[in-house]
Amino acid sequence: MSKTRLLSVLNEAHRLVADRLSTGDCVIDATMGNGNDTLFLSRCVGITGYVYGFDIQAEALEHTRERLVREKVGLEQIVLSMESHEHMERIMPPSMHAQIAAIMFNLGYLPGGDLSLITVAETTVNALNSSLRLLRSGGILTIVIYPGHPGGDNESQAIHAWAAQLAHNAYQVISYHFLNATTEPPYLIAVYKI
Ligand SMILES: C[S@@+](CC[C@H](N)C(=O)[O-])C[C@H]1O[C@@H](n2cnc3c(N)ncnc32)[C@H](O)[C@@H]1O
Repeated sequence: MSKTRLLSVLNEAHRLVADRLSTGDCVIDATMGNGNDTLFLSRCVGITGYVYGFDIQAEALEHTRERLVREKVGLEQIVLSMESHEHMERIMPPSMHAQIAAIMFNLGYLPGGDLSLITVAETTVNALNSSLRLLRSGGILTIVIYPGHPGGDNESQAIHAWAAQLAHNAYQVISYHFLNATTEPPYLIAVYKI
């Protein structure tokens, strides 16, 4: 990576997650969108790993599948579900509960898609609670949050409150945000399960 590249919360999420992953790990992309994070995760865990992706839009599934095919990623161990991430605990095989190495959320709307189909506070917080149960010890949860779009501020406040109350002896929680931005930029929260 170029040393002069501008900082980005998306790149930072990838950097933190890559640092925790090994070949063969099992991971979740909770908001597939156009498939950038699914592709990134599949490269981190390799052909012996498992990637589970969730999105509520058929368009997101199609874009993600096309992206993986274009990048010649083997699809055998990638499971793409058109389901809300709220249901991830029910959908993940019981053998994988408490075994997940990384779970990524990139909230908001599908870029280039229907801007009214956004992630919302209540279902996101339910999915975050499921994520904590699915993570293994040493696993990481990343959440990229967009307070700037309609509805985004409410979701941002709910997640901030949720993250701040997590028990300090069970989780380490960090946040990464730009302090001198002129607009309301996206920011990142990462939760490490001890
Ligand atoms: C910002 S996009 C994700 C971008 C994606 N991670 C990527 O790398 O291209 C947010 C996505 O969340 C999806 N979404 C909204 N509500 C959801 C829910 N309850 N469960 C899963 N996905 C949801 C939207 O359909 C949208 O595709």
